[in-house]
Amino acid sequence: MAKQVWKPGTILAPVPPVLVSCSFNGEDNLITAAWCGIINSEPAKTYVSIRPERYSHHMIKESGEFVINMPSSHIIRSIDYCGCRSGKNTDKFADCKLTKEKASVVNCPMVAESPISLECKVTDIVHLGSHDMFMADIVAVNVDEKYIDEKGKFHIEKCSLAAYAHGQYFALGKKIGSFGYSVKKKASDNKKKKR
Ligand SMILES: Cc1cc2nc3c(=O)[nH]c(=O)nc-3n(C[C@H](O)[C@H](O)[C@H](O)COP(=O)(O)O)c2cc1C
Repeated sequence: MAKQVWKPGTILAPVPPVLVSCSFNGEDNLITAAWCGIINSEPAKTYVSIRPERYSHHMIKESGEFVINMPSSHIIRSIDYCGCRSGKNTDKFADCKLTKEKASVVNCPMVAESPISLECKVTDIVHLGSHDMFMADIVAVNVDEKYIDEKGKFHIEKCSLAAYAHGQYFALGKKIGSFGYSVKKKASDNKKKKR
């Protein structure tokens, strides 16, 4: 078995097909973006890359703010729709019957149906070619309290998060590990040492 060599492309997967909300001049809009990620831990920084011809592009550029609403499988149809229709011609919040929720810091609405919403303030715009990369500080994180247990633990595995890979949407499946589990000492290792 061998790998075929393909020309350069954007096949990195899975990536999150996030719903980005933005507002400008009293108008709210949603754009689906898969070119989105974390670029720094402290301060928490993210990016979203948007083509200049998107209606959302000028809204984010002018307002300097946006919200990243993380994708849940329950709203995947709306996520696809918001990536196929432009806010120039239609009100995507109304079309998808998505609920606007007031954000705590920024002046654009969050999507209530999304389990996690990141409020972002743009710090830099990098022109890359086809897309402009909006680098931003994450200024607040909003998590749906229905996934927080009585001990304050947030159960992200219950959020039904969705992923995007090579043009297709997937529901995240079963948990197969957690950070550092491969090097975690087992109770039996301590017993061995003591002997
Ligand atoms: C799954 C998916 C991912 C997308 N990712 C991006 C992206 O990262 N950047 C971008 O500019 N457009 C992306 N698009 C296309 C925009 O969402 C689409 O052009 C949208 O209609 C733009 O809306 P607007 O004109 O209201 O801003 C994506 C579309 C889909 C369906």
